[in-house]
Amino acid sequence: MKKVFVTSALPYANGSIHIGHLVEYIQTDIYCRFRRMLGDDVVYVCADDTHGTPIELNARSRGIAPEELVAYYAREHKEDFDAFDVGFDIYYSTNSDENRRYSELVFSRLKEKGHIIRKTTPLTWCPTDKRFLPDRYVKGNCPKCGAPDQYGDVCEKCDTTYAPTDLKDPYCVICRGAPEVREADHYFFRLSDFAGELSAWTAKEGSLQDEIRNYVNVWIKDGLKDWCISRNGPYFGFKIPGEDDLYFYVWLDAPIGYFASLDKLCQQTGREVEDYLHGDGSEMIHFVGKDIIYFHALFWPAMLIGAGFKAPDHLFVHGMLTVNGEKMSKSRGTFITARQYLSALDPQYLRYYYAANLSSRPDDLDLNMQDFSNRINAELVGNISNFTYRTLSFCSKQFEGTVTTPADGGPSAEFAAAASEVRNLYAGREFRKAIQRINAACAVANKYFQDSAPWALVKKDRDAAQKVISWCVAACKVLGVMLKPVLPKAAQSLERQLGLGPLAWADANFDYQNRKIAAADMLAKKVEKEQIDAMFAYVPPSTGPGAAVVRVGAAGALAQNASAESARATGEIEPPPFAAEITYDDFARLDLRVAEVLEAERVPKSKKLIRMQIDCGERRQIVAGIGEVYAPEQLVGKKIVVVANLKPAKLMGIESKGMLLASGDLVLAEFPKDAINGGKVK
Ligand code: 2FM
Ligand code: ZN
Repeated sequence: MKKVFVTSALPYANGSIHIGHLVEYIQTDIYCRFRRMLGDDVVYVCADDTHGTPIELNARSRGIAPEELVAYYAREHKEDFDAFDVGFDIYYSTNSDENRRYSELVFSRLKEKGHIIRKTTPLTWCPTDKRFLPDRYVKGNCPKCGAPDQYGDVCEKCDTTYAPTDLKDPYCVICRGAPEVREADHYFFRLSDFAGELSAWTAKEGSLQDEIRNYVNVWIKDGLKDWCISRNGPYFGFKIPGEDDLYFYVWLDAPIGYFASLDKLCQQTGREVEDYLHGDGSEMIHFVGKDIIYFHALFWPAMLIGAGFKAPDHLFVHGMLTVNGEKMSKSRGTFITARQYLSALDPQYLRYYYAANLSSRPDDLDLNMQDFSNRINAELVGNISNFTYRTLSFCSKQFEGTVTTPADGGPSAEFAAAASEVRNLYAGREFRKAIQRINAACAVANKYFQDSAPWALVKKDRDAAQKVISWCVAACKVLGVMLKPVLPKAAQSLERQLGLGPLAWADANFDYQNRKIAAADMLAKKVEKEQIDAMFAYVPPSTGPGAAVVRVGAAGALAQNASAESARATGEIEPPPFAAEITYDDFARLDLRVAEVLEAERVPKSKKLIRMQIDCGERRQIVAGIGEVYAPEQLVGKKIVVVANLKPAKLMGIESKGMLLASGDLVLAEFPKDAINGGKVK
C-alpha cells in the first residue's frame, strides 16, 4: 500500500469554477479513484488560492473585506466540486495558519542558506491609486515593436518579455492615469542557485512528460533569473516577518498551500505528514495545466530542494480546453461555469467526455457540443448503459433477479484482457484509450447478448438462457470496476443493483454467481438537443458577494476578470455577466428620478469623488466617483438620473443620499432642460 500525495492546482478565490478548470480536477480525480481501487493510500488535497492583488481589488470594488470574498468562493467552489464528484480528501484555504507557518518556514530556510536576497528595484507606481502596479495592472506600447495596449510583462504581438517600467506611454489599468517609476526594496529568490539540482530533477525518470522536459531544459539552459517573491501593500496575503509593508507574493505561498492542506488533513485524520512527504516509496504528484509549468517545474522544486524537502515525484501537465474549437470566451457565450453546465446537464456526461478525450500528453482538448452529444448517446447510453440495463432488467423480469453460473460460451477472455489493459491505461493516464477499450469490450458483450437471443432461448431452454444472462450480469460487475474511476455514480448504481460493496480493482472478474440482484436502473439517459440549448441560454442568478459592480471597464470589471499576475490571467476586459431576470415589480421598486445638478465640487484628497447638491424634487447631496472624467463645472446644470430610494451611504465620510446612474465614468441620460426635477423615470 503506497502513500500517494496528489494535488490539483489551487483555484483562485476570485471567480467561479468553469468547465476549463474541470478538465484538471476531473483528470486528477479519475487518477486518484483508480489508485484507491488498487489499494493505495491516496490523499487528494486542494484549497482555494486566496491571496494577491486581483482578490484584494475585487473585494475592494465590491465594498467587502477580502476574507468575505474568499469565504464566498470557498463555499461555491466546494459545492461545485462535490456536484462533479471531485472527491478531495480535504479542500482547504491558503489563508490558513498552517500555510502561514509553512510559508515562513520555507522562506526562513531559504534565506538562512543565502538563496533569498534583498535588493532595490525600479517599479511602476500609480500616484492616483497610491500603489505599486503589478505587471498586469500597467499597459502601454511595447518597447520592441510599438504595439499599443500591451501588458507590463509580455507583448502579445511580438512575444518580447520586459519589465513594466520598459513600456512606452504606460498607463494604470485601474485609473487610466500615467504611472511613475519608484524604487523599492524587495526579496528575490536566486533560482539560478538550483540550476544543477533542477537539471538532475528534470532528467529523473517520470518527473516530467517528455514534451515538458524539453521546454524546461531550454529555460534552464537559457539562464535562470532571480524571482521577486515579495509585494508591497495594499496586498491580501501574509506579511513577511519583520517587515512593515512587504508581503509574500501569492505564487510563493500558493504551492506551499499543498503542504498546508496535507498538514490539516493529517491533523484531522491522525496521519503523519512526513509519511507522505518523505516516506519510503511515497509519491508526491501534482496535476497542473500547461499555463503554469514555470511555477511548478522551476520555482516550486527549487524552493523545495532549497528548504530541505523532496522535489515532486511527478508533475503531470495537461492541455487547455477549447469549446467548439475556440478559446472559451464570455462574449461568444462559451465561458461556461460549472453552475451553468449543471443547470442543464448531468455531471457524469462531462466526466465521461473529458476522460474520452484525455491522454497522458499535454495536448489541448476540445469540447465540441455535437461530438459531446454523439458520444454520450452512442457510447455511454447506447452501448454501456444499454447493455447493463437490458441485462439486469431481463434478469429481473425473467428470473426474478436470480443469477446462477455464467455460461461457458460468454466472451470472458475478452473481458479479462480488457480489464488488464484498462488497468495499465489508467495507470499511464491514457484515459481516452481506456474508454475506447471499455467500449470495445462492452460492444462484444452486447453482441453476445444479441447473438444468444435469451428472449427466444428462454422459451426453449430456461437454464441455458439463465446462464447466458448470468454471464451478462457478471460482465456488468467487470464493467462497473472499469468504469468506476470515471463514473463513480454509475458504479455506485451498479454496486446497488448487484448487491455488492464498494468495487475494487480486484473485483474485475466473473466471480458472481448464485445471487439475487436488485431492481434495474439506467446508468445514464440520452442528452437532448434542448438541454444543450438550455445550458447556453442559462442566466446566472447573481454576480457574487458585496455590492453590484457598477463601474464597467474600471476596477470592478477588471478585478473580476484578471485572475492572477500570471499568463493565466488574460486581463481581457469583458462586460460582467447579465444578472438574473427580474419582474416588472422588482424593477418598480427602484425609485428613479430626474435630478438637476445645482452645485458640484471635488472631495478634497480624492481624484474621483465629486460632491453634488441636486434637485430631485427635493434638495439633496450625493457623492459620485466620476471626477476623472468630469470637472465639477461640467456637471452643474445637467439633468441626470438618480436612484432616489437607495439607502444613504458615506463616501470618505461624506453622506450621499442617492446614486447617479453611469456606465464606467460616463453619466447616463442627460435629460432636456425642461424635464421636471423629481420626475419619475420609467
Ligand atoms: O493559476 C492559478 O489558477 C493558480 N491559482 C494556481 C495555483 S496552483 C498552486 F501553486 F497553488
Ligand atoms: Zn491608477
